Amino acid sequence: MRRFFAPLLVIGLATAGAAQAEDTLSPLHFQSQGAFGSIDKAAAQRGFLVYQTVCAACHSANALHYRDLEALGLTPDQAAGIAAGVKLADGSTATLDSPFKDPAMPASAFGGALPPDLSSIVAQRKHGTRYVYELLTGYATAPDGVTMLPGHFYNTAFPGGQIAMPPVLRDNAVTYADGTAATQQQEAADVAEFLTWAADPNLSTRHQIGLRALIFFVFLSIVALISKRRIWRESR
Ligand code: HEC
Repeated sequence: MRRFFAPLLVIGLATAGAAQAEDTLSPLHFQSQGAFGSIDKAAAQRGFLVYQTVCAACHSANALHYRDLEALGLTPDQAAGIAAGVKLADGSTATLDSPFKDPAMPASAFGGALPPDLSSIVAQRKHGTRYVYELLTGYATAPDGVTMLPGHFYNTAFPGGQIAMPPVLRDNAVTYADGTAATQQQEAADVAEFLTWAADPNLSTRHQIGLRALIFFVFLSIVALISKRRIWRESR
């Protein structure tokens, strides 16, 4: 039995390890990634600022309400303060129960390429967290021989390489309250972490439960193994 058990444990640990290692491909480490990752709330709060200041001009995030910001570690007063600063389309002021404000950008602005709702974009794209980061930092000059469609920008992360979204992040596009230097990469990583949380607000809890379940099953296996050996011990 021990001969079976040990390799199983090794395989289990290796799988968990591989899930972690997969995301070291990115130049930045995302705390939310990997089998036991949890949302980096400080990064996600900074990411909200980037979303609110930059992305919200074109993208909605309809699944989110201002009250949800409390789950990111903001106090109810801070969340209410953010809502109070938002004027809705009908002229009223947002409250904690309002969904995030829709952008005012006309749908025709990008030649028919609609900015998608960002609430669950991380879940809708493969390796979504890293994809968002790489998309936002992936603008480059088109290589020779590539003919650009009108109104499109060359982007190494976007399938097909041509995206209708202009490069929107630059150094110091926002000023972070926690003193973090707002480089373009930092902003991209922070908004990716924020959108990871948006797509899966319970990620941290789920991963914690997963870890506890794993520990419990390892413990249970050991107990089962010991009982089995006792029951089936050859009587001398
Ligand atoms: C000026 C308007 C504008 C702003 C600001 C903007 N976007 Fe976009 N975004 C677009 C448009 C238009 C598209 C659709 C592009 C296409 O399909 O070619 C898009 C598409 C996307 C996509 C989907 C790409 C895909 O795989 O389909 C993501 C993710 C995204 N934007 C993230 C962001 C984030 C994060 C921000 C803020 C940092 C942001 N955008 C700011 C206009 C904008």
